[in-house]
Amino acid sequence: MTHSLNYGRRQFLQYSAFGAAAALFPELLQANPKSARSSPTPGFKPDVEIEFSAREVFVPILNNGSKTKVQKYFAKLLKGPENTVQSFEDNYLGPTLSFAKGQKVRIYFNNNLFEPSIMHWHGLHVPQKSDGHPMYSIEPGERFVYEYEVMNNAGTSFYHSHAHQLTASQVYFGLAGLLKVTDEEEKALGLPTGEYDLPLVIQDKRFNSNSQLQYVHGMHDRMMGFLGDTILVNGKPNAEFSVKSRAYRFRALNGSSSRIYKLGWDDGTPLTAIGTDVSLLEKPETKPYIMLAPGDRIDLWLDFSGRSVGSKLVMYSLPYSGVMPPMFERMHRGRGRQGGMGMMGGMDMMTSDLAPGDKFPIAIFNVTEKVSDSPKLPVQLARRQRLTEKDVDNADSPLPIAITERHMRPLVNGRPFSLDEVMEIEKVKLGSIKKIKIFHPHEEHPQHEMSSQTNKNDNMEGMNHGGMGGGMGMGMMDDMGGGMGMMMAMAHPIHLHGQQFQVLSRKEGHVNKEDYETVRHGFVDSGLKDTVLVMPGEEVEIIKPFQDFKGLFLYHCHNLEHEDLGMMRNFYVH
Ligand code: C2O
Ligand code: CU
Ligand code: CU
Repeated sequence: MTHSLNYGRRQFLQYSAFGAAAALFPELLQANPKSARSSPTPGFKPDVEIEFSAREVFVPILNNGSKTKVQKYFAKLLKGPENTVQSFEDNYLGPTLSFAKGQKVRIYFNNNLFEPSIMHWHGLHVPQKSDGHPMYSIEPGERFVYEYEVMNNAGTSFYHSHAHQLTASQVYFGLAGLLKVTDEEEKALGLPTGEYDLPLVIQDKRFNSNSQLQYVHGMHDRMMGFLGDTILVNGKPNAEFSVKSRAYRFRALNGSSSRIYKLGWDDGTPLTAIGTDVSLLEKPETKPYIMLAPGDRIDLWLDFSGRSVGSKLVMYSLPYSGVMPPMFERMHRGRGRQGGMGMMGGMDMMTSDLAPGDKFPIAIFNVTEKVSDSPKLPVQLARRQRLTEKDVDNADSPLPIAITERHMRPLVNGRPFSLDEVMEIEKVKLGSIKKIKIFHPHEEHPQHEMSSQTNKNDNMEGMNHGGMGGGMGMGMMDDMGGGMGMMMAMAHPIHLHGQQFQVLSRKEGHVNKEDYETVRHGFVDSGLKDTVLVMPGEEVEIIKPFQDFKGLFLYHCHNLEHEDLGMMRNFYVH
């Protein structure tokens, strides 16, 4: 099988009420009643218990004496080790959570916002009911109870809002925080801890003249993803770290809506990674630079040993190109020329002072103290058994995740998001290990071929669902045929809920070679992942286990505007 998605065979399980849903997904039944999710399970004995709330507050972000309105997570540790919750005052970021593998965790989430919300534990392998699926979004004043065992190995993750159609804005306005998992294997490695183990949460925001956050303005921001012009690290602009002349662990998280960072030192010193998405690597990997897409984490080993006091190192996002259609990249580079936009005329677009792929500093590291000893970089990190094609039951017919960008609306597998509708190709047997192919169908296939796979009533592009078409002459763009696919192609960070996956292969497609050269060496694909950046035209094959939990588990683009536009679907594990 190449790219035949077999949409004719798909089966829609559509319902609006839980009654009908429960017949098809009995697991949902227990999750439905308010009582079941607003009160703890009597038999569940938590090691860690945390009371979370989210509310609007004003915090100082810019160093100009003013405060910015944000949405913020607050947490109170009710039970468990003292270091489990580390809160930050004067910051919009939620507390950093430190969990240990094997801990049983119960979390109460109180929604004190003025809109629905729900929390998601990105990268954690937890039951559906505790995964923060948008169908569980709760109203202001309501409470949701999560209960899960930490099954993940040591690594870095985060939690964030996954509210139905409000994810992007709530994360942008502050609803996210770092989450660390540790385990015995990690402890034995002697990696830097305490003051030598630091977060590097990177986000881009935009502020108005009153120091208030500005979010998307119009269609372009939504379609391409929001880009800010102010880079914040750990919630603050112009980040500087005072470091000693020794090794550090920096846990980098891209918590931005859509901006992709190409992390690197200015002087060409390579970067060493020791972990990816909630997982240590088997061996450290040294790269000239590292691509960090929204939702991605990378644990960096930054060694300042031998640097003299007074030296200053600048971590940059280095230049790259090709993650956005050329015409949009050009527009972003035409900074300051808002409004005069040729074929995009009429769309309210904000050009960013930081175009995608521009070079800009992320953080400055000042070496302020000489110390004589430093931990050594371990040669071997985590011991893992790598899954191979032999472990999957569908080596010849990978499950498809087709990325489509037609009609100015990005989708996965040609259907817009539905809280609970599942296609045949999205049903997966519990316990199976699957090969999944993420690809851009309309770039490899001229448009007419794509349509011939699609029957008329079941247009896979979801024309009937497209509320996004107004004013853009969709029909015209469509008529431009296969070329339009290429023209609109952009990079998408694809995230799958549930268990971590492995990247099996990456095949570059019809992408501009020169562009691809600017990113090629920046993928750390050797570790376990939950988010993978797929470049325009690229085909990425992954291996993913679907073990332990039945139910609906999301897969989606972690460009958060894309996610809210419906570039998200469910796998149904049964
Ligand atoms: Cu980080 Cu479904 O999300
Ligand atoms: Cu997630
Ligand atoms: Cu996307």
